[in-house]
Amino acid sequence: MTASMQDQHIVGLVRQAARRFATGVTIIAVRHGGSTHAMTANSFVTLSLRPALVGVSVQPQGLMRGLLEQVRRFGISVLNETQTDYARHYASLGRDNRPRQLHPLLSGDIPPIVPDCNAYFVCEFENSHTVGDHDLIVGSVVHCAVGNPAVGSLIFLDGEFQGIRR
Ligand SMILES: Cc1cc2nc3c(=O)[nH]c(=O)nc-3n(C[C@H](O)[C@H](O)[C@H](O)COP(=O)(O)O)c2cc1C
Repeated sequence: MTASMQDQHIVGLVRQAARRFATGVTIIAVRHGGSTHAMTANSFVTLSLRPALVGVSVQPQGLMRGLLEQVRRFGISVLNETQTDYARHYASLGRDNRPRQLHPLLSGDIPPIVPDCNAYFVCEFENSHTVGDHDLIVGSVVHCAVGNPAVGSLIFLDGEFQGIRR
């Protein structure tokens, strides 16, 4: 087996193994120049409580990577069990990012948040770290809130979306 074949082999195994790890699903969104840009991400992680820091791993070649550093303030909406449409829509290329699909829950300098989501975080770009072929974006939480606890969560497992309830 050549080094390149070994590399392909491990990539395939990591993909397969990672598919077995159930995650929640988030929408990362920024407002810039009067319009909205948003993307689906399941790499969200809470990194620290004091100070309150969260992370998301993004592709460096994507549009969102540059916008996060430029705009600095971004929203992270944790999707509920009924919001698969948002997850699919904001993962597609050439998607319509018009703000009508998201709305600000709060006024002022607040990034767009998905209505009725399970929870949301308003973050300020803190720093970033190149981690292999992705960039880990670290956000400082300036505000967050939870939605209706009776509503279930959206889960991504084995490449499929599914709702889960307590
Ligand atoms: C369930 C799911 C989770 C995803 N998670 C991430 C993620 O954590 N980071 C990422 O960079 N892309 C992720 N993607 C892919 C992006 O949503 C997609 O490539 C998007 O078009 C990137 O937007 P951008 O071009 O504005 O950067 C995910 C897609 C799906 C369907």
